[in-house]
This record gives sequence, structure tokens and C-alpha cells, in this order.
Amino acid sequence: MLAVRALSSHYGRVQVLRDFSLEVASGEVLGLLGRNGAGKTTALKTVLGLVRASGGSVRLDGAELTALPAHRIPSLGLAYVPQGRRLFGELSVEENLRLGLMVKDRDGEAARETRARILGLFPILSERLTQRAGSLSGGEQQMLATARALCLEPKVLLMDEPTEGLQPSMVAKILETVRVLKARGVAVLLVEQKVEAALAVADRVAFVENGTIRETGTPEALHADPAPLYRYVGVGQGRAG
Ligand SMILES: Nc1ncnc2c1ncn2[C@@H]1O[C@H](COP(=O)(O)OP(=O)(O)OP(=O)(O)O)[C@@H](O)[C@H]1O
Ligand SMILES: [Mg+2]
Repeated sequence: MLAVRALSSHYGRVQVLRDFSLEVASGEVLGLLGRNGAGKTTALKTVLGLVRASGGSVRLDGAELTALPAHRIPSLGLAYVPQGRRLFGELSVEENLRLGLMVKDRDGEAARETRARILGLFPILSERLTQRAGSLSGGEQQMLATARALCLEPKVLLMDEPTEGLQPSMVAKILETVRVLKARGVAVLLVEQKVEAALAVADRVAFVENGTIRETGTPEALHADPAPLYRYVGVGQGRAG
């Protein structure tokens, strides 16, 4: 569903992504792990066209994205939950959702169905529709950020550290959401710092270092031999999560 080939990108003259390649199938969760500054967020932003690719290709269900302007990409079925959530804190839960629904240009009935399905996934948000997004708890904000992305009915969802700063019960809720999306056939690219969280939901894990994928593995293989976790994430040095 998502095929990234030899992608490169720069900030000014500094190259961050180099020869970055991965694939995520429908109904597959690919975990992306790596140290701070490894290039995980940059990889997501380059896939989304928010950072311009200087080489390589990104295909979504066969369609090449790198030549398109960034604003055209979400409606093609590629949604993004940014690191740090980036909600409109002064707007209500309802208004944040409405902004998500507006991106995909559809008639009122389809939008209402999408909204109902999403609120079914996050019942707590239905009880908070008039509350300011900025006054939600961290876990509720993460749910709203995810709900907003799902307004696009995406084929592929990119999530950047969705469990950051959340207590264990909220982490579990977010991971449960990832499983539901997987079961619905969404391809999920999940950037995580919490290794255990990534291993709990991912079908495969890819390790990023210095802007490139160094290695991939399955959770089963990594439980048997965790050496790549030490090498690329530094588990055991306070980064395990
Ligand atoms: N807007 C920017 N301008 C210049 N350099 C940037 C910019 N954003 C990120 N970088 C640099 O690009 C490199 C990769 O950053 P990136 O944010 O992709 O890392 P990351 O793997 O997401 O890290 P973290 O785990 O801390 O979120 C870092 O060296 C960072 O300083
Ligand atoms: Mg990041």
C-alpha cells in the first residue's frame, strides 16, 4: 500500500534522509525505531511531502506522491498523527473533528457516518465534544489527534510517537486503536520510542540510524535476539520505555 524507495531529503544543505526504503501493506503495522535525531520524524514528513524529497519515490497504492504538492496528499488516503499532537487547543473537540472532516470533500451524509464511526472508536470524545481540546488530558488529546487523522478514512496512517508522555493505561488504549485499524485493513507506520509498545503491535520493526533503515526484524526475532535494540535504540540505557 505504501512503498518508499531510496528516499532522500535535506534541511538546507544538510542531508537527513538517505537511501530510505520501506514498505507497509494493508492491514500491516510497521514499527519505526531509532534514537533521537535518527530521522524518524523527517522520514514521515518527507513521505507526506511536508519536507520535499530530493530523490527517490513514495507510492501510495501505486500512485507517485513526490511530485505532488503536500496539500493534495491527505485526500489521497495518507493521514498523519504528528509528534506532540498539534491540536487546535483553543477550539473544541467538535471543531477539531470538523476540521478533519473538511479535508476530505464529501457530502454531509458520508461525513456524518465517518464521524459516528470515529466516535464509536473513542467514546470518551463523545462526552467531551464541547470541551476545549487544550484542556483534555494527554491521553484524550492523543485520541483526538488520532480521531482527526481518521476523518480522512485513510488507507495509510503515519503515527509519530503516539504514546509519548502517556501513562500505561492510555498507552494500552492507543495500541488497541492501532490493532483495530490494522483489523480494518489500514496500513500503519508507527514511530515509537517505547520499544515494548512497538513490539506489542508491530508485524515488523525497522531500525533507523542516520537517516536510513539499517535493519528490519519481527518482534519474535527481536525477543529471541535483542541485539538490534541495543545497537539502534540503546535499550538498557534508559530508553526502553
Ligand atoms: N526543520 C529542521 N531544520 C533543520 N534541521 C532539522 C529540522 N528538523 C529536524 N532537523 C534535524 O534532522 C535530524 C533528524 O531529526 P528528526 O526530527 O527527524 O529525528 P527523530 O528521529 O524524529 O528524533 P526524535 O526521536 O527526537 O523525535 C536531526 O539532526 C535534527 O536536528
Ligand atoms: Mg521525532
